[in-house]
Amino acid sequence: MAEASKKAFVCGHPIAHSRSPKIHGFWLKHYGIEGSYTAIDVAPEDFSAFLKRLEAEGFAGGNVTIPHKEAAFRLVDRRDAAAEAIGAVNTLWYEDGQLWGGNTDAYGFAANLDEYAPGWDKTDTALVLGAGGAARAIVHALKQRSIRDIRIVNRTVARAEELAASFGAGVSAHPLAATGEFLPETGLLINTTSVGMHGNEELPVDPSALPDRAVVTDIVYVPLETPLLAAARARGLKTVDGLGMLLHQAVLGFERWFGVKPEVTRELREMIVADLGAAR
Ligand code: ATR
Repeated sequence: MAEASKKAFVCGHPIAHSRSPKIHGFWLKHYGIEGSYTAIDVAPEDFSAFLKRLEAEGFAGGNVTIPHKEAAFRLVDRRDAAAEAIGAVNTLWYEDGQLWGGNTDAYGFAANLDEYAPGWDKTDTALVLGAGGAARAIVHALKQRSIRDIRIVNRTVARAEELAASFGAGVSAHPLAATGEFLPETGLLINTTSVGMHGNEELPVDPSALPDRAVVTDIVYVPLETPLLAAARARGLKTVDGLGMLLHQAVLGFERWFGVKPEVTRELREMIVADLGAAR
């Protein structure tokens, strides 16, 4: 008998703009796998019941996005180490009859930089702009790569302090006003705020005072080249856009559900870039 077709999903609220069905759909076709990956809109009050129905509905697992990542963290049976460190779950799968929750955002962040700026982690000092959920995953990735001095600056300092405290030694919190003083000694600058996003296309900081060796990356990918990345490129610095993080974070879920570790290729990236352009 042929193996049953495997099913996976992404759930969020809203979910219409998720690119995940396009990414996983591309890989299913590319690897000739009989399976599906669908977007499901789940309201917050329905999320717990939705998780309970998953297995009966034949799902191998799926992705969880805003606003369910913290609820998923609380509701799964088991969590992987990244989810524990980040406090949020973005990937679900079954193992030994239990519902597991993992977090692939830190992996996606590091894999994107590995691809476009190899050696990015050979710096002692990173400056993280913002202290939301994305910053949490990125600080975890930076700790994993043993970056010794991780500085978080945020408009609301209390949020940065809370984030820094949860990671302990080597991670510090500062007000936005400290940015100017930090820039000349920063080897890696990461924007995790929504500043620079389409509709809010401003510079979160002026990167001109960064050293020549600095790498600059942004998690915003609409537009693909944010004002920060454009300014950093004009300054002659190495820049990496945020789309690769989205593509790479999808790899581990696909592998869990469909049994093949997929490749992030130029063809996949171009398909998503075209889709982002068409949506604007
Ligand atoms: P996510 O979970 O995607 O990281 P978030 O939790 O809403 O999103 O966090 C957004 C980040 O962008 C926060 O660090 C936020 O700063 P505050 O904690 O002070 O709210 C930051 N941010 C958003 N708009 C900003 C702006 N106009 N200027 C500076 N920082 C901004």
